Amino acid sequence: MSSIFTLFFFFLFLKIATCGVQNNNFNLNGFGGAKLDLDGIASITPEGLLRLTNATRMKAGHAFHPVPLRFKSPAGETLSFSTTFVFAIVSKYSDVSSHGMAFLVSPTVNLSTALPSQYLGLFNSENCSAANHVLAVELDTIENQEFADINDNHVGIDVNCLKSVYSRPAGYYSGRATDDQFESLNLHSGEPMQVWVDFAGGDMQFNVTMSPAQMPKPSRPLLSATVNLSSVVYDQMYVGFSATTGSSNQPSHYVLGWSFMVNGEAESLDYRKLPQLPRLPRSKQKPKHIVVWLLPLAIFTFALMVAATVILVVRRRIKYAEVLEDWEKEYGPHRFSYKDLYCATDGFKDNGLLGVGGFGRVYRGVLRASNIEVAVKRVSHKSGQGMKEFVAEIVSIGKLRHRNVAHLLGYCRRKGELLLVYDYMPNGSLDKYLYDQTRPSLNWAQRFMIIKGVASAILYLHEEWEQVVVHRDIKASNVLLDGELNAKLGDFGLARLCKHGTDPRTTRIIGTIGYLAPEFTRKGKATTMSDIFSFGAFLLEVACGRRPLVVEAGEEEQVFLVDWVLENWKARTVLATRDQRLGLEEERSAMEMEMVLKLGCLCSHPMPEARPSMRRVMQFLDGDKTLPDLSLAYMSFSYPSLMQNQGYDGGDCIVSIPISVATVSTSSLNAR
Ligand SMILES: *[C@@H]1O[C@H](CO)[C@@H](O)[C@H](O)[C@H]1NC(C)=O
Ligand SMILES: *[C@@H]1O[C@H](CO)[C@@H](O)[C@H](O)[C@H]1NC(C)=O
Ligand SMILES: *[C@@H]1O[C@H](CO)[C@@H](O)[C@H](O)[C@H]1NC(C)=O
Ligand SMILES: *[C@@H]1O[C@H](CO)[C@@H](O)[C@H](O)[C@H]1NC(C)=O
Ligand SMILES: *[C@@H]1O[C@H](CO)[C@@H](O)[C@H](O)[C@H]1NC(C)=O
Repeated sequence: MSSIFTLFFFFLFLKIATCGVQNNNFNLNGFGGAKLDLDGIASITPEGLLRLTNATRMKAGHAFHPVPLRFKSPAGETLSFSTTFVFAIVSKYSDVSSHGMAFLVSPTVNLSTALPSQYLGLFNSENCSAANHVLAVELDTIENQEFADINDNHVGIDVNCLKSVYSRPAGYYSGRATDDQFESLNLHSGEPMQVWVDFAGGDMQFNVTMSPAQMPKPSRPLLSATVNLSSVVYDQMYVGFSATTGSSNQPSHYVLGWSFMVNGEAESLDYRKLPQLPRLPRSKQKPKHIVVWLLPLAIFTFALMVAATVILVVRRRIKYAEVLEDWEKEYGPHRFSYKDLYCATDGFKDNGLLGVGGFGRVYRGVLRASNIEVAVKRVSHKSGQGMKEFVAEIVSIGKLRHRNVAHLLGYCRRKGELLLVYDYMPNGSLDKYLYDQTRPSLNWAQRFMIIKGVASAILYLHEEWEQVVVHRDIKASNVLLDGELNAKLGDFGLARLCKHGTDPRTTRIIGTIGYLAPEFTRKGKATTMSDIFSFGAFLLEVACGRRPLVVEAGEEEQVFLVDWVLENWKARTVLATRDQRLGLEEERSAMEMEMVLKLGCLCSHPMPEARPSMRRVMQFLDGDKTLPDLSLAYMSFSYPSLMQNQGYDGGDCIVSIPISVATVSTSSLNAR
């Protein structure tokens, strides 16, 4: 029975002993629910922060572990102890100094007589009396001459006195480059920092270590001193914190977590459990210490990079945005990406501009992937119903293979814009050779070869390909010349596109005046016959070196080239209309020239039925057939009057007029 009681009391004793041990050690990751002895303006915030001061002037705040801890063994030897805590001094004006705080070991929690401000709430004067029995580790942010402070940002060990026995500027030995690599810390940066205080009872070694929060404890302490505490501490001492505010800047002193152990190393704090500091709107802060701002800087830089990347991606997407509809998928191989074209043309820079035509600008480029030289034509359009047909048509045109047809490599669509990619033609368009005085004039043989080339291209389109293709816009500026001055007919079907999607500011562009067959302007329907009409105008243009429509300078009257040639034909002076740069030395050239001029008039006949077919035209040009001796009655027509009579009134089907026409006068025409 007694043994049972003995056992019972033994367990009771064990339990009490365990409790006692627990009382000496604690580990507070945040202070939510912690029982602390608070006074002054100290409080525990709802988030679990120990807030020692609250931005009230000239006040002190204290917080103590509620029960005193044993600091001496029964034999009277000073025990070892170890503590660590995370603190932050947060102030609105981080560049203005404010008062610091201290960890303290005190015989009493009643520090009501202690003074605020520079006394840190510890003492009531500079009275350094052994009777105080106060040990403190100060985190001081003001340089007080009276206490012989080393600077305004230091850590010190205070024994009974604010005059520190040992002190060092705040910081830590990172041990990064060398063992004694020192990194300073700004105590009132507002950033949480951790402090370790370790005292070994045996050799009286007193170590103070600090580091930015989240970092492991530096192996080398900031302060390491021998301190004889035997006459300072009593058997039982209170441990806690003290902080004060001054008269000017009122910071808030926070403790986020605190762990303490007698005769052992304090348990480490769990950062995941620590409460968050409130974020204050702060004035410009320039923390001195690299690590303090390294993390925010890294986050900021990262955010900046992410933002920059997003902006870049968005800009690129806008820059290279295309319109691609489902129905276009089948045209895949003919579709170019806008990015490729943008890169090929160096961003459509003006120095790559080959020309500005009625339908848009043409740029020279080199496709990066294949190194092929291309001409990219940018045509603005309004997406309309015609687009689908048009793309189908240009893609089918891309399949056209003829030595005199400009090869369309593909296309790209953007909002309000169509880009057509052609083989690059080093010699540009024919009209430049006809009208640009800086270019060498083409001799008749060259011109005749070009004419035959264009004729064979039209024949191919009209009769030799799998389906009939109507060009709609045959003219000198749509004839391109390769390196050997071979003609390549280009710009198929654009007139049709522009009919479907016109710019409301201009009238409908469906062709070029002077090349338009009267029945086309009347009915608006392009046929192979209207192409032959345009080809007739083209023949006269090449032979005469003049545009099909000449506006007399100073007068309203327009003179059609065909009328003028006809007049000369009637007067039997048709060769006088030739380009005066062309000589008549060779008999053969003169005969070809006369034939071409007459054929041009024949093809320009207002009656579609009166025009020869392309195959016949080809036969005339090849010399396989001679031009019939046309009666002048048959050829008796006046182009402008017919245009007028047949309803051409400049209404809704006008038209791009070549720019340079206005400067030539009919008198000069007749003079030549
Ligand atoms: C500071 O704390 C004291 C005591 O808890 C309180 O009376 C005072 O209103 C507080 N001041 C501020 C600015 O929070
Ligand atoms: C604190 O000490 C002062 C005198 O030093 C005394 O007047 C006051 O009552 C004490 N307060 C407490 C709570 O013990
Ligand atoms: C210093 O402290 C001692 C003991 O507490 C006291 O007797 C003395 O008057 C104090 N001196 C001053 C100047 O406060
Ligand atoms: C104090 O730091 C030194 C290293 O500088 C170390 O050897 C010693 O054990 C430390 N003492 C305590 C009590 O932590
Ligand atoms: C520590 O201080 C006490 C009392 O002042 C003294 O008796 C003891 O010798 C000192 N210890 C050392 C190692 O100096």
